[in-house]
Amino acid sequence: MHDRIDGTVIAITGASSGIGAATAEHLAALGARVVLGARREDRLKEVVDRIVAIGGTATGIIVDVTQRDDLVRLVRTAVERHGRLDVLVSNAGTMAVSPFDDLRQDDWDAMVATNLTGVLNGIAAALPVFRRQRSGQFVNVASTAAYVVKAPQGVYAATKTAVKVLTEGLRQESGPDLRVTLVSPGFTNTEGVGKGASPEAAAAFARQRDEIAMPPSAVASAIEYAIAQPAGIDISEVVVRPTVQA
Ligand SMILES: NC(=O)c1ccc[n+]([C@@H]2O[C@H](COP(=O)([O-])OP(=O)(O)OC[C@H]3O[C@@H](n4cnc5c(N)ncnc54)[C@H](OP(=O)(O)O)[C@@H]3O)[C@@H](O)[C@H]2O)c1
Repeated sequence: MHDRIDGTVIAITGASSGIGAATAEHLAALGARVVLGARREDRLKEVVDRIVAIGGTATGIIVDVTQRDDLVRLVRTAVERHGRLDVLVSNAGTMAVSPFDDLRQDDWDAMVATNLTGVLNGIAAALPVFRRQRSGQFVNVASTAAYVVKAPQGVYAATKTAVKVLTEGLRQESGPDLRVTLVSPGFTNTEGVGKGASPEAAAAFARQRDEIAMPPSAVASAIEYAIAQPAGIDISEVVVRPTVQA
């Protein structure tokens, strides 16, 4: 299976930390040429440097997934540097959850713009390239929140449910040449858990993270599994979570 990762060209959004960074490092260690996007230049550079230090191939570019042009630039960079794009992992996301009564509308807007519009921007940027190549794979990162909503995650869960639905719609339209995969992690030990959330939600998240979270490498392995299938085989949906998660 590892042979099918070697040499592939994989773009990943949200690759400066957490699941995106772990996935980038895991796939690069298997020989993938990775093109990484995120907003924090210093953190992105650290990931690129770690990959290059083990002999891998990585390029980092500043990408804000809410901006259409940034996704076009990410895809174009992959094609210009490596001649093609095999996989786009749309992983960037924000989990700034809070109770509705807090009326944190800026956070609601940011979750919609990043988690939902960001994925659509990736599809719009990569789909024409995949069609031209007659090959390509979308890996969209949702969440177990796409399967069950738990307060106060209503808006976050809505964005991830939307990603689940649009990914299935895209799969149905993708035809025989493309692959479309939804990867839904459960509680994962990253710095994003509780970041920007209301104080009570952040504290509850931090507690749960310390008690039950799995390492981001577990999600990276699931993504590798979906990418490493033979041509013509599509892993449409993967839910990966800690056994102790209810
Ligand atoms: N951790 C969990 O328990 C869990 C569970 C289910 C699903 N997920 C999902 O997994 C994905 C990754 O989250 P994580 O847990 O790894 O948290 P994380 O460490 O905070 O990673 C989030 C990544 O997204 C990037 N990002 C955020 N907004 C962005 C934007 N507008 N444009 C470009 N990049 C942006 C961040 O980089 P910059 O800030 O540098 O831009 C960072 O690299 C998210 O979609 C999240 O919803 C996480």
